[in-house]
Amino acid sequence: MTPTALVLAAGKGTRMRSSLSKVLHPLCGRPLAAWTLQACQDAGLRTAVVVGHQAEQVKQVLGPDHGYALQAEQNGTGHAVQCAQALLADASVVVVLPGDAPLITAETLRGLLEGHGDALCTLLTFKTPEPGRYGRIIRDANGTVLRIVEAAGATPEQLAVDEVNAGIYAFDAQWLVKEVLPQLKPSPPKGEIYLTDAIEAASRAGRLRAVIHQAPEELVGINDKATLAQAEADLRARINHAWMMKGVHMRDPSTTYIDAQVVLGAEVLLEPGVILRGKTVIGDRASIGPHVSIQDSLVGPDAQIKASSVLESAVVGPRAAVGPMAHLRAGSVLGAEVKVGNFVETKKAVLGDGAKASHLSYLGDCEVGAGANIGAGTITCNYDGWGKHKTQIGARAFVGSNSSLVAPVTVGADTIVGAGSTITGDVPEGDLAVGRGRQKNLSGRAEGIHRRNAQLAGKRFDR
Ligand code: UD1
Ligand code: CA
Repeated sequence: MTPTALVLAAGKGTRMRSSLSKVLHPLCGRPLAAWTLQACQDAGLRTAVVVGHQAEQVKQVLGPDHGYALQAEQNGTGHAVQCAQALLADASVVVVLPGDAPLITAETLRGLLEGHGDALCTLLTFKTPEPGRYGRIIRDANGTVLRIVEAAGATPEQLAVDEVNAGIYAFDAQWLVKEVLPQLKPSPPKGEIYLTDAIEAASRAGRLRAVIHQAPEELVGINDKATLAQAEADLRARINHAWMMKGVHMRDPSTTYIDAQVVLGAEVLLEPGVILRGKTVIGDRASIGPHVSIQDSLVGPDAQIKASSVLESAVVGPRAAVGPMAHLRAGSVLGAEVKVGNFVETKKAVLGDGAKASHLSYLGDCEVGAGANIGAGTITCNYDGWGKHKTQIGARAFVGSNSSLVAPVTVGADTIVGAGSTITGDVPEGDLAVGRGRQKNLSGRAEGIHRRNAQLAGKRFDR
């Protein structure tokens, strides 16, 4: 018998006004329902999901680590659990949760299970000054919970109750499956089958436990884009706090954005405005400058990413320096101690240890050998209008400023390319290549040109 979590995620989430299913909206880079599932797994529960709206897409995004049941038509929360009966055949306890409550923690779920004992149902409630659309908790004069009344069917007196149903419950799974689910009836006014009717059944049997949760902010449900944004802010604060406790120096956590899957090393420094997304990993003691955005990239130990740089699926070696204002695109791989300076863009570019491109370059579809120096303004001309071609630059090559390397082309090791060259043919190892018009000096000819231009402009030339 296995304790199981059942996450209800079949609903459409109309109030999101979104073509994307509500439960797939990302929060800190992780889909809404995946937060809840992660908390369940961390609490030691096997996980299952009821899907309906956009079922195939939801299954695909949430992945194969969970059981799935299909609720083709959304006839209410009770009906959703009926659709998942087969997944509960060997469950001891089942914790039912909504798919739109991403802030619930493993700690809270563990607490719920520990206190459950031999109750038929443990119900999690919370108090709120704005009970809104939540189901109201109805207690008798002794404080015993009798049932839950949905807002839609509540009397004015019941609507005034400030204790509400979080939609999170632990049930004796076999009791629920065998004795409750078959008995559930459609409720007015909508004719939906409510899981909340199970609470009344447990109360009648005298085996209902109700726990008032003291951290109601963990229980908020996402219904629209405003509550989505608030939940993301809360999760972001949690992530930032956890990294700071591990020694990350965050100069302004209120402007620091770190996705759930990101991994940070010891003593990383994050300046204000940093955005770290996807599967990014930052090595020990690396420093990430102001307004840097990094997606799915690896930054090596002691590397420096300077202000306003953008990295996408890139690898940066140990002690390398990038930026300010550099753009490393997919397939950029920088070795140890590489320097990529301001206004340099790289794409599918492999730079060997110690290579440098300090200013204003485009390096695409190329390999740059160790210790090579790429002068300011150098461009790999990788595209001919039809396909992409490769540039190979050997170790210790010195490419002068403002050179165009027309691919496919190979510039050998230990070569020099004269500044301003357009290189269309391979340069053998050790050669000097000059691919530009030869300079001539016309003696004293400057003054005559100035005189003529001044006259044309109607100005006097006196020098
Ligand atoms: C439900 C509770 C309410 C509680 C609130 C907490 C019922 C009858 N009411 O109301 O007491 O205060 O949650 O948030 O249970 N879902 C399905 N299939 C369905 C209907 C819903 O999978 O047929 C899923 C939804 O996708 C959602 C969750 O169940 O993730 C809750 O459904 P929702 O419609 O939001 O329930 P509420 O009306 O908010
Ligand atoms: Ca809801």
